[in-house]
Amino acid sequence: MRVVSPDMARVAGMHHDMEAQALQAVKEHAQAEKDSLELPFHRNPREKYAVFRALLQHEGLPPHEKAYNRISHEAVTLMAAGGETTASTLMMAVYFILADKKNVLSRLRQEVESLMANKASRPSIADLECLPWLTAVIKETLRISTLTARLTRVAPEETLQYKDWVMPAGTPISMTLREISLDPEIFPSPMEFRPERWLPSNPNLEQCNRYLVAFSRGSRMCIGINLAHAELYIVLAALFRYKEFELFDTARERDVDFTRDFFVGETSASAKGVRIRGVMGGAYVNWGEVIHVNYHIARLEVFQVSFL
Ligand code: HEM
Repeated sequence: MRVVSPDMARVAGMHHDMEAQALQAVKEHAQAEKDSLELPFHRNPREKYAVFRALLQHEGLPPHEKAYNRISHEAVTLMAAGGETTASTLMMAVYFILADKKNVLSRLRQEVESLMANKASRPSIADLECLPWLTAVIKETLRISTLTARLTRVAPEETLQYKDWVMPAGTPISMTLREISLDPEIFPSPMEFRPERWLPSNPNLEQCNRYLVAFSRGSRMCIGINLAHAELYIVLAALFRYKEFELFDTARERDVDFTRDFFVGETSASAKGVRIRGVMGGAYVNWGEVIHVNYHIARLEVFQVSFL
C-alpha cells in the first residue's frame, strides 16, 4: 500500500497503531481484574489509555463492545472526528485574528489580559467562556469554517414532506451545514469575518445563535462540542496573550477559503497553509506545528500544552 498510495498507507498505519494500543489496554485491564488491582482512574487525561479504560471499565457495555478491534475503532473515530476539525478551525481563527490586528487582535488581547495577568495565570474554561470578544471570534470562525460535507439522514419509518416534495420512508436525504452558515439572509455578507454579529449589540443575535450549526443539531450532533470549545478557548487565549505574531505570505483566497470538500473543507491544491512568524524573534513558525500541538490536545493531553 505504501507504494500504491502513501496517504492511504498512513491511514491504515493509524488503524494498526490504535489496534495495538487497544490490545495492550485490553490485556492490562484483564490482568488487573485477575489480580483484583485497581487501574488508574480513567478520567485522568494524562493517563495512558484513558479513553480505552473508560470504555473497558464501563459497566453498561456488553463484552463484545469491549473487544480490542471494536474499541480501536472508537479511537480512530475520535482522532479523525476530533483532530482535523478543530485543527482547521484553529487555523482559520489564527488567520482572521492576524488579518485584522487593529480591530480583532487588540480587543482580544485586552480581554484576555484582564483574566491572565501574568504567566502563572490559569483561568478556568468557564472564565474564558465569559469573555464576549473571544467568544464572538470563536463563533464567527466556526460559522465561516463550517464543514463542507453533505450530512445524510434517513427517516426509516416516516414519510417526510418538504414544500411540494414527498420523501418516502427510508429515503436518504442530505444537505450541507454551510447552506445555513453562509446564508446571506441569516448572516449578511456571509464571507466577511464580523465577530460583532455575536455581541449583544446585534438586534439579530438570537437568530444568529439559532443558526449557528457548525456542530450540527439534533441527536447526531457533535459529541466533542465541549472538548472542541475547550481547545479553541485555551489555545487562542494562550497563543495571543504573550506572543506577538504576524501573517507571513498568506493569502485568503489561496490559503484560507475552502475550494474542495474533504468532509472538512480544504483549500486549493496550491495552498501553502496559514503561516505565521514571531514578530520579535523573526523566526518563522509554520502553522503546521501548531496543528501538531492541536493533535496532542485531541488526544486529551490538554493541560500539558495549554499555556505555551
Ligand atoms: C471545531 C471542532 C469540531 C467541529 C466543527 C465538529 C463538527 C461536527 C459535526 C458537524 C458533526 C455531525 C456530523 C453529522 O451530523 O453527521 C460531528 C460529529 C461528531 N464529532 Fe465533531 N466536530 C468538532 C470537534 C470534535 C471533537 C474534538 C471530537 C472528539 C474528540 C468530535 C467527535 C465527533 C464524533 C464522534 C461525531 C459523530 C457523532 C455521531 O455520529 O453520533 N468532534 N462533529
